[in-house]
This record gives sequence, structure tokens and C-alpha cells, in this order.
Amino acid sequence: MPDISRDDITKTLKSIDSGTGGIDIVGRGWVKDILTKDGHVTVVMEVPANLGPRLEPARAAAEKAIHNMAGVRSATVVMTAEKEAAPAAPRGHGGGAPQGQKMTIAGVKHIIAVASGKGGVGKSTTAVNLAVALSRMGKKVAVFDADIFGPSMPRLLGLAGRKPNSDGKKVTPLEAHGVKVMSIGFMIAEDNPIIWRGPMVMGALEQMLRDVDWVGDWGEIDVMVVDMPPGTGDTQLTMSQRVPLSGAVIVSTPQDIALLDARKGLNMFRRVEVPILGLIENMSYYVCPKCGNRDHIFDHGGAKRTASELTADFLGEIPLDLKIRMLSDGGTPIVAFDPEGPHAKAYSEIAAKVWDKISGGTQKAAPKISFKSLFGGG
Ligand SMILES: Nc1ncnc2c1ncn2[C@@H]1O[C@H](COP(=O)(O)OP(=O)(O)O)[C@@H](O)[C@H]1O
Ligand SMILES: [Mg+2]
Repeated sequence: MPDISRDDITKTLKSIDSGTGGIDIVGRGWVKDILTKDGHVTVVMEVPANLGPRLEPARAAAEKAIHNMAGVRSATVVMTAEKEAAPAAPRGHGGGAPQGQKMTIAGVKHIIAVASGKGGVGKSTTAVNLAVALSRMGKKVAVFDADIFGPSMPRLLGLAGRKPNSDGKKVTPLEAHGVKVMSIGFMIAEDNPIIWRGPMVMGALEQMLRDVDWVGDWGEIDVMVVDMPPGTGDTQLTMSQRVPLSGAVIVSTPQDIALLDARKGLNMFRRVEVPILGLIENMSYYVCPKCGNRDHIFDHGGAKRTASELTADFLGEIPLDLKIRMLSDGGTPIVAFDPEGPHAKAYSEIAAKVWDKISGGTQKAAPKISFKSLFGGG
């Protein structure tokens, strides 16, 4: 079957009123990209930042219209804000700070980033289990999936295929295992990854943070856990600069190479003066399910050593365990599945340390030292 033509999609989009003076969204010049693959359609709408929330009905109508076209299996319309044209947004409207300033996220007390220098070290797994552990401590917890290239929160929290509700102004986050969550994964089919251009990434992230009613009837959010995209590129840097982070935890596996990446991640946060809450060593050791013997598959203890070398705190270690992986894939974090088990205990101890640091205001304790000699950074 030939793929749906971009012309046909454009024709459909021309029937969508922009809600701004009888001109359609194509006529407004907002449709920036149309991507089709095997019946999956993704449209990128770039709109003036100040109009963003008002245009949600147009976005939703566009999505529906494409979805109704013959041959379309899934339709996703993403709205990103056009940066240059945006006038300095008024303060105190739940975000939208001008470039270079931190945005504000109303009702959220502390925001921590879970980061790593590279992918596949267990960042998302750690983030979700820390979030559930914090929630079990009685905290009001939200998870923000900032990994827009490979969002994993829908799957890890058992919410794949679900869509958050929107009243046309604010989006209501989904809830699972006691935590609220927002992810670009709720808007995009898992098998239909979107190719983002640099500036679009920040637009999408900011829009998601800003347009979500995080607090709802919870009164406030004690802590928001941000699952960061892997790496130390511009996106991560911008994200760390724009989002008012209380601190960052760095996840690493014990292998030296991963630790080198962890150092890069750590260094990046220090460059933008985000306090490092500490390092977590994931897949640290393997407990034989038959005999209970501990095996150190990788060189164990590397994170602890690196942490002390870099004068960051070591927060704890999480074993390599098939159960952690299987439960994650099944949508139930191990801390929710077996709250009294040894793994939950390991995550909970780390969560308690993290909470102590952010709530006690001791997170500034990480001393500032120069890494110029080591990494050539700032
Ligand atoms: N402690 C662990 N034991 C076993 N498997 C793990 C552990 N931590 C993560 N995994 C698995 O490793 C893979 C990568 O983890 P993920 O959290 O997605 O990493 P990242 O977010 O850093 O890319 C996943 O399949 C996950 O289930
Ligand atoms: Mg991840």
C-alpha cells in the first residue's frame, strides 16, 4: 500500500480553522513538518508561543481529521512554540519565561533530574523506582519524562497506549502506582518516533511542562522526578538551564567507560550550577537467586570511587536483577510490586537520602572544584 501523500494531508489540514480570524492552520504557516511512515502520520505545528494553550482545540481537531483519512493507522500532531516571535511572557503564569531564564512550574516544590552520560545504564528504571519510593514515603510525586527521543515512562508505569485528558487549556497528567506522570510518549505512537530539530526539542519540553496541570487536587507536588534524555548535548544543557532543578542524581553502571560518561554528565550540571545530589551505581552486583551469593559482574565499586574522586556523594547501589527488568517491562516498578523486598529497600534508602538533601537545603554542600584539568570543561 502506498503511503498517504503529504499533499492529501495538507489538504486535510487546510480544513482546520486556526481559531484566529477564520484562517486555516496551513494558511497561518504553522504546519512545519509532515512525516509519514507505514500509515503513521506525525505533523509538527510551530505556533507563536503566546497562542500555545489557545490552539489546543485546533491541534486536537487536526489530529482527529488526519486519523479519519483512509490508510492512516495513527495520527500525532505536536505543537511546538516558535521562539523568536515570542514576546517576553508575563511572569507568574505558570512558566513561559523568556530565553535564558528559568521557567516556573506552579505548585511544584522540588525538581530533581535523573541523568547519565549515556543511554542504557538504567536511568529510566532508576527514576521510576525512586519516584514510587518517594511516593511510598508519603510524598506527592510527579514524574516528567524528558526523554523525547525514547520516552519510556508509559511502558514502565503500565500506561502505554493511554492518553491524558485535556480541557483545551490544561492537560491532566496520568496516574499510576501513586505518582502523576507526563510523557511525550502519550502523544506519539511508540513505533513512530519523531525526528526533532534542535530548537523544537526545548519547545516541546517546555510546552509539556507548562501546559500540564501538575497539582490538580493534590494541593502541591513535593517532588518532581525528571527522567532526562541520555547524553550531555545542547538539549540537556538547555533543559538544566531552563528548568529550576533542585539537583541532579547521576546513574552509572560500574564499567569504567560508563563512569567516564557519568563524569561528563556530572560536569555538565556543575557547569550550569545545578547541585549534584550524588551518584547511583546501577547493575552493581548480581545476587544468585539459588544460593544468594553476590557476584560482581562488572568491576564493582567504580561509582563509589568516582564519586569520592569528584567529591560527589555516593547514594547507593542497585543490583543487576532480571526481576527488575521483567517487572519494568510489565509496567510495575519493583518498588510497587514488592515494597518490602531487598530491591525496594535499596531504592528507598536512596530516595530517603535524596529527600533529605533537597528538603533539608543541604544540596548546596557539593563543593565547587575545577574540572578543567580533567575534562577540559568549565
Ligand atoms: N538493576 C537492573 N537490573 C536488571 N535490568 C535493569 C536494571 N536497571 C535497568 N535494567 C534494564 O536495562 C535496560 C535499560 O534500562 P533503562 O532504564 O531504560 O536505561 P536508560 O534510561 O538509561 O536508557 C532496560 O531493559 C531495563 O529493564
Ligand atoms: Mg531512558
